[in-house]
Amino acid sequence: METDMPEVRRTVIELLGQLGSSREARQYLKQFSRIEESRFAVVKVGGAVMRDHLDEMAAALAFLHRLGLTPIVLHGAGPQLDEAMEAAGVPIEKRDGLRVTTEDVMAVARPVIYRANAALVDALEARGVRARGILHGVFEAQLADRERLGLVGEIQRVELEPVQTAIASGSLPVVACLGESPAGQVMNINADIAARELVWAVEPHKVIFLTGTGGLLDYSGRVISAISLRTDYDHLLAQDWVHSGMRLKLQQIKEMLDRLPPETSVSITSAENLTRELFTHTGAGTLIRRGEAIDWYEAVSPEHREQLQILLEDSFGRNLRPDWLEQRELVGLLWAESGRAAALITVGVDGVPYLDKFVVTPEAQGEGLGAALWQALRQRFPTLYWRARAGNPIAGWYFQQAHTTHRQGEWIVYSIGVEDFELLGRLTGDARHRDSGWVQA
Ligand code: ARG
Repeated sequence: METDMPEVRRTVIELLGQLGSSREARQYLKQFSRIEESRFAVVKVGGAVMRDHLDEMAAALAFLHRLGLTPIVLHGAGPQLDEAMEAAGVPIEKRDGLRVTTEDVMAVARPVIYRANAALVDALEARGVRARGILHGVFEAQLADRERLGLVGEIQRVELEPVQTAIASGSLPVVACLGESPAGQVMNINADIAARELVWAVEPHKVIFLTGTGGLLDYSGRVISAISLRTDYDHLLAQDWVHSGMRLKLQQIKEMLDRLPPETSVSITSAENLTRELFTHTGAGTLIRRGEAIDWYEAVSPEHREQLQILLEDSFGRNLRPDWLEQRELVGLLWAESGRAAALITVGVDGVPYLDKFVVTPEAQGEGLGAALWQALRQRFPTLYWRARAGNPIAGWYFQQAHTTHRQGEWIVYSIGVEDFELLGRLTGDARHRDSGWVQA
């Protein structure tokens, strides 16, 4: 399979390798390539990115196309339109967050949208990618409220044929946010609404928002790496630093994902970071998924036992003794629905639970499943102790989570919620002598 790989593809894979491990890149390329061509991704590009980062964006999209992937691009032109209206002396008015589109506004808007579309198509073609601007025929609409909003369209139906024809002929479809009535009345469509409707019609594997900030930002202005709606949504909306724009964005994304298959994910990233976001586990941007259930079991069923053993052995690259689980006095198992993350808790000293195994696949880690599992663990166990080897790659992360850490030879013993100094001493002594369950090398 690898021997008859075309030269370009090989080069590109090497390039991807520079991002992280080429294994990761290959895995994602394989994953994305398995999906039907027209359902890989819908990429929504805001007007500001079109204006300020056209070149980076064309480069990132051209790169995907050379890998054999065909994203469907949808773009707005808001800021360009504001500028043009100002220049033309046409007042800007919004109602319910929508641009009031009088005939005068439409007269200015149409050429602006056409120009933005052509600029992106040209930038792509300049990079040797065939691209097709699609200005009409996708969003069938009717007037939302002629009196209040003018020529603002409410989408009635999404026609994918123009998009599919473009893809079939080897072109990247670049769709503008214009709709029309069956009789041909052109209407202005809000870009977020257009994106949502297009995504529902296409049901893509990935939904990508290219923005200037490159992700959703937390209270300190840092990009939030992953959000699982199931576990983080309510908590996030309750934060006072989540301002109205971000709140709206989260609500819209939740509404969008609620109607799509559970494996669909949204990535918010920048043009510059798109490749890294798509082809590494940790990504570069904010990944949002519906998320999965993390269930609690007081006994480990034979099926879970088998899956857990495989998960542990694969992740740690070692083998477990056949009796490893039976040797343990169990408190219970936290198990992620997809079987890609688990925490095994056993009976420790003086009623303090011992975190015996904690495992998350690297891919699930990038989705934030490790953090979600940890949160579930903390909710259930106010006190806890565990150990890890000093050289363990996640030692640094444990260090941040733990309240106390004690070095014990090759081990570091961590604890949470234990204040009694004497008890801590006993926990530490206990942890270092625990059976690991691994076959000794
Ligand atoms: N490459 C994967 C994807 O695009 C995972 C990305 C993880 N991204 C993140 N911001 N945590 O689906």
